[in-house]
Amino acid sequence: MSKVTLEQIVSLCKRRGFVFQASEIYGGLAGFWDYGPLGVELANKIKAEWWKSVVTDKDNIYGIDGAIIQNPKLWEASGHVTGFTDPLVDCTNCGARHRADHLVDSDSTDLTELKKLLEGKTCPTCGKMTLTEPRTYNMMMKTWVGPIEDDSSVSYLRPETAGSIFINYENVRETMRAKLPFGIAQVGKAFRNEISPRDFIFRVRELEQMEMQYFINPDDQDKTYQDWREFAWKFLIERIGIKEDSLVWNEHAEDERAHYASKAHDIYFKYPFGAKELWGTHNRTDFDLSNHSKASKKDLSYFDEQSKSRFTPFVIESSVGLGRMFLAVLADAYNEEEVNGETRVVLKLKPELAPYRFAISPLLKNKPELVSKAREVQAELKKVYGNVIWDDNGNIGKRYRRQDEIGTPYCVTVDFQTLDDDTVTIRDRDTTEQKRVKISQLGDI
Ligand code: GAP
Repeated sequence: MSKVTLEQIVSLCKRRGFVFQASEIYGGLAGFWDYGPLGVELANKIKAEWWKSVVTDKDNIYGIDGAIIQNPKLWEASGHVTGFTDPLVDCTNCGARHRADHLVDSDSTDLTELKKLLEGKTCPTCGKMTLTEPRTYNMMMKTWVGPIEDDSSVSYLRPETAGSIFINYENVRETMRAKLPFGIAQVGKAFRNEISPRDFIFRVRELEQMEMQYFINPDDQDKTYQDWREFAWKFLIERIGIKEDSLVWNEHAEDERAHYASKAHDIYFKYPFGAKELWGTHNRTDFDLSNHSKASKKDLSYFDEQSKSRFTPFVIESSVGLGRMFLAVLADAYNEEEVNGETRVVLKLKPELAPYRFAISPLLKNKPELVSKAREVQAELKKVYGNVIWDDNGNIGKRYRRQDEIGTPYCVTVDFQTLDDDTVTIRDRDTTEQKRVKISQLGDI
């Protein structure tokens, strides 16, 4: 389990502008969060790493950006309108609704089993034994398209980004002249009317997903499935810098799997509130393409030149929530340490992910010659590293603490000696060591 508490992370996120409660001044809205100036930097860097490893570094994976609202027939064919459900219980005393499986700490969604487990349980809100029997509850967020609000104008905010990937399979295959195996990737928002959003940004109603669907010959399903499991594990460790012992595999039992999956393995991260799902790899078989083909009457089968056979491709899916990855990155990087008799909070982020790569300070902010030299250094570093923060508030010690807390790997100070020999002091976030180096060497560090 992570040594940091969720309260410490929530407090850091609010204090330093990573994440704010959505609609905070109106009392918030459960399950919705706003990413602040530092949060959006970290989130964008995580997305960029994912996009690079999934799309740019590969030759046969193509990106798309589909609409959030699609023809509702998509979600009927995909099984979401009837099958995208969670088990729910109501309290007849206080009206609260709870996820039945969460109340009994079970991964099962089987109503008969849950009913047994719920015997004798009280409502966590009012403490009374007034819970109904469990029933299924659909999580699709509904809306109406156009000026008339009736059954014919109902549509849905997408519950997963995958939907628009399946319905664009043929468009992408044709325009990119793609041959199996090939993949389609997408990063975007999805919406789920979760019964009990909780644990900060872990379980939310508006989420962002990074998903990739890999279209294959059914004969290759086992090997491809293993490859994408391995990809996810390696990505988290090598590209995002998460410690291997913070991760653990969880295979879904048959009754836990989504309606479309024949096999599912999640990577769990050891969050402060327990080891929970971060990243799923699923074998979706030909479930989606076959159903869309049937419902739309468009042929989505594939002719394989090599074997001279026609079949509906299988899909191996790699799906991860950005918010969950963001929370895992923060929890894994968060440290409290004693330095010179004082406690410091330090985010030991992978330097490539830190919201700011460098912080630049003039030793004294009332010395124009130091300020203009420091601005010059900032402009040079910005050209290479993008975000380089200017920090001239308080004394140097305070600046270091502030930058440690947001994970800035290096603090650079311009002092009087800089004006003579073009050297600056550079201080390392993790070791707290300070060195004098030539300005021209900063990039190498
Ligand atoms: N297309 C497959 C799919 O959506 P999922 O397991 O329902 O599968 C994939 O979701 C990932 O999306 C999860 O592993 C998790 O990281 C993230 N996710 C799902 N529901 C979420 C929620 N309510 N809040 C935050 N992230 C969520």
